[in-house]
Amino acid sequence: MTDNDAADDSETPTLVTCALPYANGKAHLGHLRTYIPGDAYTRALRKQGREVTFVCGSDMHGTPIVVNAEEQGREPEELAMEYHDYFERTFPRIDVDFDNYGHTHEESNFRRTQQIVRALEDAGHVYEDEMKVAYDPETERTLPDRYVEGTCPYCDNEEARGDECDECGRHLEPGEIENPVSKVSGAPAEYVEQTHKFFALSEFRDFLSEFVDDLEGTSNARNQPKQWIEEGLQDWCITRDLDWGVPYPNDEDLVLYVWVDAPIEYISSTEEWAAKDDDVPDDAWERYWRNDDSEIVHVIGGDIIQHHCVFWPSVLHGAGYSTPDAVMASGLVKINDRAFSTSKGRAVWLDEDYLDEEFPADFIRYYIVSYTGFENDLNFSWSLFQERVNNELVDTFGNFVYRSALLAHDNFEGTPDGELEDEVRGEIESAVDRFEGAIDDYNVKEVAEAGMALAGFGNEYVQRNEPWNLMDEDEERAAEVLYNCLAVAKASSLLLEPVMPSAAERVWETLDEGDVHGATLDDALEPVEGDLQEPEHLFEQVDDEDIERLETRLQERIGDDGETEEEEETEADEIPFERFEELDIRVARVETAEEIEDSDSLLLLNVDIGDEVRQVVAGLKGLHAPDELVGERVVVVTNLETATIFGYDSEAMLLAAGEDADLLTTVGDSEPGTQVM
Ligand code: 2FM
Ligand code: ZN
Repeated sequence: MTDNDAADDSETPTLVTCALPYANGKAHLGHLRTYIPGDAYTRALRKQGREVTFVCGSDMHGTPIVVNAEEQGREPEELAMEYHDYFERTFPRIDVDFDNYGHTHEESNFRRTQQIVRALEDAGHVYEDEMKVAYDPETERTLPDRYVEGTCPYCDNEEARGDECDECGRHLEPGEIENPVSKVSGAPAEYVEQTHKFFALSEFRDFLSEFVDDLEGTSNARNQPKQWIEEGLQDWCITRDLDWGVPYPNDEDLVLYVWVDAPIEYISSTEEWAAKDDDVPDDAWERYWRNDDSEIVHVIGGDIIQHHCVFWPSVLHGAGYSTPDAVMASGLVKINDRAFSTSKGRAVWLDEDYLDEEFPADFIRYYIVSYTGFENDLNFSWSLFQERVNNELVDTFGNFVYRSALLAHDNFEGTPDGELEDEVRGEIESAVDRFEGAIDDYNVKEVAEAGMALAGFGNEYVQRNEPWNLMDEDEERAAEVLYNCLAVAKASSLLLEPVMPSAAERVWETLDEGDVHGATLDDALEPVEGDLQEPEHLFEQVDDEDIERLETRLQERIGDDGETEEEEETEADEIPFERFEELDIRVARVETAEEIEDSDSLLLLNVDIGDEVRQVVAGLKGLHAPDELVGERVVVVTNLETATIFGYDSEAMLLAAGEDADLLTTVGDSEPGTQVM
């Protein structure tokens, strides 16, 4: 879609897709990293009243599934269907609601895949050639790419996998990896020649340069492909010598490479949605895939940018389909600041570690969406999880809503009469603007912050106006204040619905305001007039004992892997100087300091960093008296992204040592703003 067409975005139908999970294992935090923001982004678009379709499906093919099935003495189809059913059941448990969840081994996907391959052949984009395939002389079988390890020809990483290099993020063609070794037997692999089909990706250079320039979404989805296109594109082999997959049209012996039929499921799944949804005609899928007056947004992991921003758009363009308008590519997941790894046990599993523990979906949804920007690395630890849930969800949002509704219910037996104050109207309006700006920027973290900041305002408003003290002296004013509190509760939960759909639903049920999922931003300022129900607490605190148990379980799992923490320490110990240089650390002077009421640990400070004054939320309560801090020289990091803590924006990080928060300062009298090197 061009910018001119986008004159009124809300009129543009939008298709959002999430990358297909391999039907080869259970869900973990690495999966949630993209599905939850994908779902939140979709719900946010719907809040603008847009027509949105959200599809996904299971990725059933590929060699790991064949090898796994073989190991278990089962057929690949049986195994893949088992995991497909599992994913289909599991996504709704974390409130990820696709309009269609299909899979790649379905008739519809076979048909669409073969049609596209024929179209590519007809347009002259496919040719036949010899290809080098790795062969394990020990087990006497050809090796799927994933079962070969060796040296990456692009970056010399000696531990690259046959189909991709973790170090430089490149897709590797069969035969490209140097010094191949079989992962099955450990023996050096040999290369043998086979005839295969190739997609002439290198012919798409000009198309891709323009495509990537216009591509919206996160910046990593543009920057990496630009570099790859400049370095020169290799044609892709699109067939494999396997029995499991979509057969190559008119060729009994070859199946298509899994990366051909997997993204085509985005189209097939849209077709299935159109066929089953009674509100749209059967050809409604064409409005996305055959028509440029719509938008396609792919939400993916950062490791599959090349597949989505180079290979896939070329296939679509070559076969005469519409190409994606935006790609949102996530950063990595870390656990306790170290790389997420299921094989090393450093993982959080959705079933056993989360759902079986009866944590609500909203907690992990909020954590993932709000912890950091989508394209940054997301760090998870159980203690951070507890801290954010208890401080931000329970104490700020939950408390504010419960307190306001309880006071209104107990004192007025329902929603009191009142009118919106200008101040409150202004806060709601600017939160709505912030929310819409966030959608335009593909920034789901900002979507969450718009809602939480409004709840933070509500908290501050109710404390400032003390309606509980007004009841005896000025009941009318108490009613007015509580009416405004309920209006903020309604609007903030509406804005938080994309991130925490279940909590938002409970708030709207209490307020008797109808269906929050179907409501749009226009409802944010609609009067609160429902029949207020007796409220219940919105959330329960996460307990210390649960967190300790889960952390112990995680450590035990990592321990079982046999790799000592010390060994890993040396790997992670050193960082290049450039990474240190990225931090902007400065001397600052504390201008004001006050306690954040209701928080056990937080102070709110304003610090002068030389050219401006920044607001900082710091865990200093009970450790430093606010009065004694004013005028002190401290050291702060100024270029971390803004965090919302307890409803307040924290625009810098104060450096302090140890559990007593011994503040870092300077021996001499450096002025605020002086760089710390
Ligand atoms: O990397 C993966 O997990 C793949 N299963 C993603 C496929 S996404 C798409 F193209 F279908
Ligand atoms: Zn590499």
